[in-house]
Amino acid sequence: MKVIGFLTLILFLGCSMGKHEPTPINVIPLPNEIVYGKGVFKIKKELTLHFNNEKIENTARIFAEQMEEVLPVQLTKSDKANINLILQQPFNGSELYELKTTKQQITINANSVKGIFYGLQTLRQLLLFADYENGRFEIPVITIRDQPRFGWRGIMLDESRHFFGAQKVKELLDLMALHKLNIFHWHLTDVPGWRIEIKKYPKLSEVGGIGNHSNPDAPAAFYTQEEIKEIVHYAAERNIEIIPEIDMPGHATAANRAYPEFSGGGSERYPEFTFNPGKNETYSFLTGILKEVAALFPTKYIHLGGDEVHFGNESWNTNPDVQRLMKQHDFNDLKEVESYFVHRMADSIQMLGKTVIGWDEIVDHGLSPENSLVMWWRHNLPEKLGAALNQNFSVVLCPRIPLYFDFVQHESHKTGRRWAGAFSPPDLVYQFPPDTLPGFSTHFEQIKGIQANLWTEQISTNKRLDFMIHPRLSALAEAAWTVPEEKNYSNFKVRVKQMMKFFESKGIYYFNLFEPKTTPEPNESF
Ligand code: ACM
Repeated sequence: MKVIGFLTLILFLGCSMGKHEPTPINVIPLPNEIVYGKGVFKIKKELTLHFNNEKIENTARIFAEQMEEVLPVQLTKSDKANINLILQQPFNGSELYELKTTKQQITINANSVKGIFYGLQTLRQLLLFADYENGRFEIPVITIRDQPRFGWRGIMLDESRHFFGAQKVKELLDLMALHKLNIFHWHLTDVPGWRIEIKKYPKLSEVGGIGNHSNPDAPAAFYTQEEIKEIVHYAAERNIEIIPEIDMPGHATAANRAYPEFSGGGSERYPEFTFNPGKNETYSFLTGILKEVAALFPTKYIHLGGDEVHFGNESWNTNPDVQRLMKQHDFNDLKEVESYFVHRMADSIQMLGKTVIGWDEIVDHGLSPENSLVMWWRHNLPEKLGAALNQNFSVVLCPRIPLYFDFVQHESHKTGRRWAGAFSPPDLVYQFPPDTLPGFSTHFEQIKGIQANLWTEQISTNKRLDFMIHPRLSALAEAAWTVPEEKNYSNFKVRVKQMMKFFESKGIYYFNLFEPKTTPEPNESF
């Protein structure tokens, strides 16, 4: 017994001193620089936050709300601030923060509200997962200096296939904030349903909003513009930017049900799949939609999709408007028609003062790399990533394997996608991105970040949505934030256990990667 006790002590000292050893703090994503001190800071009944700048007040209030169930937080504006927004040097980097605890106090310094927010989220996790001894919280004396590896740390949610609604979206935004994820890409339109109110074209949501992937007759479900504004505000308070996607010229079936006059038809398998690129009126219609979208979302981006047009553009071969367009411009094939469409809509987006985002198909259309951003999703076509980088595009990495969260996460799972047997387990998500990706090291500056995409053909309930997201969201957050030298999957697994306890306390279902075969998989029939 004595020998075991002695060894344990040595290991413990080893852990707290070795830079690359497992860390005793439970924070996800793991901060990039941690210096451990001696002793603990104890909080008995409540925490008082003194802040020195009214710009931080809202962020501090959000933190107090987030802590409500754990510990009362009082806010006071005071010069003796323990949260400081330092508006000049020496703190460079807009997301950088420093969190310092002594036995007497906790101080967070940053030169932006974002930095303060992230410092507070680290503190939140330190408190959520703190030792709770004799009725008081204890957090270690520590100095953390931290900023993310990537500026773009995203999640995409497809609400066309299945609609989850404002409450679930806010819950997801809360979990993103806890993990310092900062981009919510909202896939609002596609084949089964149109989910955003457009005042100029009300039938888009009233008619196009009817149905979902499981039930084509489900009552119309969509977000009103007031709801969108509220969610955008809610996200912004948590440092999350919302990027709307209005998919075109394909994946347009729901819109075409509402306004068939702008349909370009489809194929046998994908009827009414496209907008009509041969009609001038289509461009006015779509620009009218984008104008309202641009006004609702403060982000500088609008995502115009642009994916998989070949699935359903067969009818362009016979559509008289498209044929006329082809003759007029001497186009040889449908790819040139597609490029024409994408260029016209990209021009509209620029005229609205926004930057275009498209799926990696847009690399083939010769858009200007200064005014557009590419999302690389076809993991089976790494050359598309190489081409995008070579053509100077900024790129977000979101390849199906491992960043499509509609793919299963364990070999025993029955519901969800696979690609030639491959899927997206949490450890692969964690290890992403490998530096062997084409252009990765030579064009690193153009890689804005990483994003997980949640397509919802096979996700129709909140419980199943949670199961597909967690704990991969935690793995994604660390892959996006923590530099490779500090990442360590075994250590992550220790910390994710605490996160799982948190999910349990919040009633959030998750895949228990420690008991992969015994976590019941919610696999509702579709
Ligand atoms: C996609 O998965 N069609 C972007």
